[in-house]
Amino acid sequence: MKNRSLVAINDLSRDEIFRVLDLAEEFEKNPIQRIMEGKVVATLFFEPSTRTRLSFESAVNKLGGRVIGFSEASTSSVSKGETLKDTILTVANYSDLIVMRHPVEGSARYASEVSPVPIVNAGDGANQHPTQTLLDLYSIRKTQGKLDNLKIVMVGDLKYGRTVHSLLMAMSQFNASFTFISPAELRMPLEYKMYLDELGLNYEEHTDLAENIKDADIVYMTRVQRERFSDPMEYEKVKNAYILKNYMLEGTKPNMRVLHPLPRVNEINTDVDESPMAYYFTQALNGVYTRMAIMALILGLKK
Ligand code: CP
Repeated sequence: MKNRSLVAINDLSRDEIFRVLDLAEEFEKNPIQRIMEGKVVATLFFEPSTRTRLSFESAVNKLGGRVIGFSEASTSSVSKGETLKDTILTVANYSDLIVMRHPVEGSARYASEVSPVPIVNAGDGANQHPTQTLLDLYSIRKTQGKLDNLKIVMVGDLKYGRTVHSLLMAMSQFNASFTFISPAELRMPLEYKMYLDELGLNYEEHTDLAENIKDADIVYMTRVQRERFSDPMEYEKVKNAYILKNYMLEGTKPNMRVLHPLPRVNEINTDVDESPMAYYFTQALNGVYTRMAIMALILGLKK
């Protein structure tokens, strides 16, 4: 991974994924290692973020590096009309690695093609969110003891949710079987289902939540992505399509864990938070260790 950008989860082989997860485990055991002293990471967030930006910044700080950047485009010269290319070429002069979130699908790939320093995609529109996927894989392996042959139930906005797109591609390397639960308007896009068809992997599509989580190993809840809707009335129609409640967890497998990339709006009732099956806040913590590992490998500070 040294000196390479991370744009899509498929940029990584199975072995590289395992290396990230193993190193994240090492950082979880020993998080204070000042291996990034002298390194500068730029976080360019053209869209809002709490977890991704702050966990990257926490990871850099724990490893002894420094962070520069902006958390909204309006405070950068993009607001004066500067192009993405010019912004990237300029920021690359000031940093060793750029972490970027941008609303346009494909922007991270484009940035990686023009940038002299590695780009880490922190989410490009509805396309991909590979570092979220790596922390999801870390969380899945930690809770299930393995990644192979698991049943993953994805719930909610499967059309616009970039985290489920990246996770589907990653878990397809581990012989997962999938259940997609969504309103008709927010079904998993055809291209991802065709991807599974080509690999010969099983998936089912349903609209009922409670009936279809009983044999799940992972229930992956998602927020309806209001910011991707062009018609606010369409959002209103589907925004409360699924709300996971504690009573629905009765009769599920003991190893089952509820994951959510967060932020949550109301798709997981707060009565689930106390359940031993709720894992989403620990999942967010795992983002720090995983992002430490990603940066250390890309910067060549660990092998
Ligand atoms: N999971 C995630 O990307 O959260 P943020 O939008 O808060 O970064």
